[in-house]
Amino acid sequence: MSFPVHRGRRLRRTEAVRAMVRETELNPRDFVSPFFVVHGRKVRREISLMPGNYQLSIDELLKEAAETYRLGIPAVILFGIPDKKDSVGSAGHIEKGILQQAIRQLKKQLPELYVITDVCLCEYTDHGHCGKIVDGEVDNDATLQLLVKQALSHAQAGVDMVAPSDMMDGRVGAIRTGLDENGFGQVPIMSYAAKYASAFYGPFREAAESAPAFGDRKSYQMDPPNIREAMREVALDIEEGADIVMVKPALAYLDVIRSVRESFDVPVAAYNVSGEFSMVKAAEKLGWIDGPRTMMEILTSIKRAGADIIITYFARDAARLLKEEWV
Ligand code: PBG
Repeated sequence: MSFPVHRGRRLRRTEAVRAMVRETELNPRDFVSPFFVVHGRKVRREISLMPGNYQLSIDELLKEAAETYRLGIPAVILFGIPDKKDSVGSAGHIEKGILQQAIRQLKKQLPELYVITDVCLCEYTDHGHCGKIVDGEVDNDATLQLLVKQALSHAQAGVDMVAPSDMMDGRVGAIRTGLDENGFGQVPIMSYAAKYASAFYGPFREAAESAPAFGDRKSYQMDPPNIREAMREVALDIEEGADIVMVKPALAYLDVIRSVRESFDVPVAAYNVSGEFSMVKAAEKLGWIDGPRTMMEILTSIKRAGADIIITYFARDAARLLKEEWV
């Protein structure tokens, strides 16, 4: 059947009918809001490349997290910035570490809020790489136990879920075993399964003070042109015990999100990363695009591609807009 019997515009004439046939709808429950945590009190240092995002001390984090939960966003993901760094990222797994303290406080003050932590060495190492350096290279197997220690210390502090982002081979299995052997069989793992070596992480490295001091991350993060490899990475992580798999970045990898969604039956998360956020903010500031509309379109596209969970710096702005639409 074709024109004039069929007229696509009939179902686009008014907002009411558009709403009735809408296929994808965002909800604040889809979002996870990232936070950067630093030592100290009353610290609220704006990240210049990511307007509206801050390095927060724990007292300030508690306020932001409460507001996040009030907006209907169920979860936060935390990144820690230690006061001391060393070659193996020891500050990442000590009991008094920044994230360990943040987890304890959050779970005490806001028990309903779901707390996820990023597990990685790059914020804690003086060289900024995501693993231990042996003979000038990131050594895979020597890194695994350090990651297990870090994940375990988060679990001991009461974290709800851990999210390893280092891209070492075998880390999901190692962390699963480490958690299980220590009585944390109930703590799920969200693995950064298909994580690409991306230019879109630029602003994050200012926020987390984690830029590599030499070289780049291409020997462990994935090569952007590859999608079959992403399927292998995801399959392996699921085999090793990942409960949720993540594709990162999101916007330039919507095809990967879609493929993962269609090929696997575990929940899929997508990380709408710092560069994707900052581009919108910068263009908005220049008056080149409508920021809020662009934000909603991007987030909707990520959900339409198949993401069940969207980790995004837009979480609170988007949740506010969604609330306004409802009233
Ligand atoms: C650390 C980590 C990174 C991001 C999340 N965890 C940076 C990196 O791999 O260089 C990027 C997040 C973002 O850009 O928003 N391993």
